[in-house]
Amino acid sequence: MKYKKYFRKTSLKQKGVGDFFLNEVKIKSPKVFLEVGVFHGVTARNVCELLQNLHNDDFKYIGLDLFEKNSENENEVIPITKFSNPLKSFYFNYIKKQNPYSIEAVEDLLKKFKNNISLIKGNSNKILKKIDMSKIDFVFLDGGHDYSTVINDLNCSIEVIQNNGTILCDDYDLTYAPGVKKAIDEFSVKNNFHCSVVCNSRFAKIEKINYL
Ligand SMILES: C[S@@+](CC[C@H](N)C(=O)[O-])C[C@H]1O[C@@H](n2cnc3c(N)ncnc32)[C@H](O)[C@@H]1O
Repeated sequence: MKYKKYFRKTSLKQKGVGDFFLNEVKIKSPKVFLEVGVFHGVTARNVCELLQNLHNDDFKYIGLDLFEKNSENENEVIPITKFSNPLKSFYFNYIKKQNPYSIEAVEDLLKKFKNNISLIKGNSNKILKKIDMSKIDFVFLDGGHDYSTVINDLNCSIEVIQNNGTILCDDYDLTYAPGVKKAIDEFSVKNNFHCSVVCNSRFAKIEKINYL
């Protein structure tokens, strides 16, 4: 599977990382996918393309993001949204007339899947508690990177693993965000889940231990 960048920013830009990610999703072949931390929607689009190939129209993608910096979330870390490539700035400012880090722009990028997607603007610390996790079979956790947010997001997604689904966490071993690893390790040990660290420590994959 080839991960495409759609002329936008993505955290999976490093060579081979996006392809690895898509392959993990393909192996699990989920029908209901949740991404926490959508950003410009590049991973969202890649996932929707893949799930449509696998299931035709019988899939759902749910994406949650702050989609803006405001006074309520000033403590959250948002990646740099400015482009270093002037062509991309020109394209979004004068042709698309869009802020790529907005729910409207992501809806536009995903418009061919409009019947399969649900985008939510808000903070995972508040929103995830209200989401029905019983049907979700794959979570890609790539939102807030501080310990309290990651542990919240994992605890809110616990039902996914209990139902034999998968949580794939990005940025497992980042020196500048040690809270990610701490939360994942703690959560896996406490709940006796299997955690495998894959793709040069880039991702942590959490699943139920299968004793068969
Ligand atoms: C690294 S980016 C996600 C990249 C995206 N998954 C991709 O593959 O391109 C992290 C995103 O998480 C969002 N974020 C940070 N804290 C959050 C929170 N507490 N709740 C929801 N989204 C959050 C930021 O707005 C940002 O868009």
